[in-house]
Amino acid sequence: LNAPPRDPLPTLALDRPVRHPSLYVSFSPDGRTVLENGLPSGRLEASRELLDVVALCDGSRTQAEIAAALPWSEPSEEARATLVRVLVERLRQHGLLLDEAGAAPATADYGYARPEIHRTMLLDHVRTDAFREAMRAVVRPGDTVVDMGAGSGVLCMFAAEAGAKEVHGIECSAIIEPARRVLELNGHAAVQLHQGDAETLDLPVQADVIVSEWLGYFVYADGMYPAFAALRDRCLKPGGRVVPAEVDVLLAPMEDRDPRGHSYWYGRPYGFDFSPLLEQEYRFTQIRLVPTEALLAPGQVLDTIDCRRAGMRDLHVTRSARWRLERGGQLDAVCGWFTARLAPGVVMETAPGAPDTHWQQHVFAVRPVRVEAGDALELTLRVSEAPYDSRLVRIALEGRVLAPDGSLRGEFAHQYDQ
Ligand SMILES: C[S@@+](CC[C@H](N)C(=O)[O-])C[C@H]1O[C@@H](n2cnc3c(N)ncnc32)[C@H](O)[C@@H]1O
Repeated sequence: LNAPPRDPLPTLALDRPVRHPSLYVSFSPDGRTVLENGLPSGRLEASRELLDVVALCDGSRTQAEIAAALPWSEPSEEARATLVRVLVERLRQHGLLLDEAGAAPATADYGYARPEIHRTMLLDHVRTDAFREAMRAVVRPGDTVVDMGAGSGVLCMFAAEAGAKEVHGIECSAIIEPARRVLELNGHAAVQLHQGDAETLDLPVQADVIVSEWLGYFVYADGMYPAFAALRDRCLKPGGRVVPAEVDVLLAPMEDRDPRGHSYWYGRPYGFDFSPLLEQEYRFTQIRLVPTEALLAPGQVLDTIDCRRAGMRDLHVTRSARWRLERGGQLDAVCGWFTARLAPGVVMETAPGAPDTHWQQHVFAVRPVRVEAGDALELTLRVSEAPYDSRLVRIALEGRVLAPDGSLRGEFAHQYDQ
């Protein structure tokens, strides 16, 4: 790594390299330091030099400026610059560095370039019809509408149908090219699509309406909210409208009877004790359709995100609620979902028992507690910044179940990464 190659290198694409938004450093048990972005190809054993370079790649410096700022004792400036180019290229090949324009969330870089995910979203009629209705309710003739994360272009077309005079869609992934053709084919050539990261894109437009389908699994998972909030703060006219307007985050205690869920480990599959794998379930969440019968009590709203005002930090909250359990059994999970008020009178539900959406529900496995009807569950939800990516969140749940006489039936405390 320290010996710069002799052959001249081609000019590389990354003029002002920037770290992949999900980049993190991990330490393997045998003492190696590894740079990762959470994707299978995004792993690279990190030398001291690689870490030095990555630390300076925030998109503000050219490769030459990075070379000049490095604390290395390379004999010549040229050797130092060559080494930086080699290291930047290795990091780029693993997707760990992007160019400044490509600095978009991992989900956007990868999944969203494919048609499949857009098909999944359009197949979700509850979602897509609700957004169409919201556009009809919110857009007034002559409005300027900005769609953050235009994808297939569907919400841009809804906005144009609803009477918008100008529609701008922002999209960072390669789906933008076919989406442009979709707009032309459907007589919406006036809709302008802009490629880039909405968080930083310079869009010289003031919008009457900003629409964005930024909602991830259990609200937070897509990591799009910071880009939406930044765009809203730059481009929304005073008094402008946003879709969705508000999102409620709900939780309910549940007994998980789905044999394909984490309760699978309660038995002895193939005659073996797999309980260490059950322990791992308390760190990860499951996305499933939860039947209403699984709930031990109705859902409660733990937080409401006011999309007209809230920044990413406002999503970091600690909230508590108390339930009176309606039936006995085994409390071994907490079910999570959201309800989005898209526009006045247009509500999109993703609750158990509501018409299915692609978000389904979120299941947070918890250490089981035997419960009786009439017991109380006291639960605290903590939403904080994920340690490896400020766009994502870490969710912690702490609960205790009390019998009617106040005695403790059991408690749990778990922390999940999304
Ligand atoms: C959930 S999809 C919604 C697509 C489309 N609006 C719809 O409703 O079917 C989100 C889209 O936003 C894009 N996206 C995510 N983050 C973005 C960002 N920071 N800037 C621009 N586009 C982004 C993704 O590439 C993806 O196409």
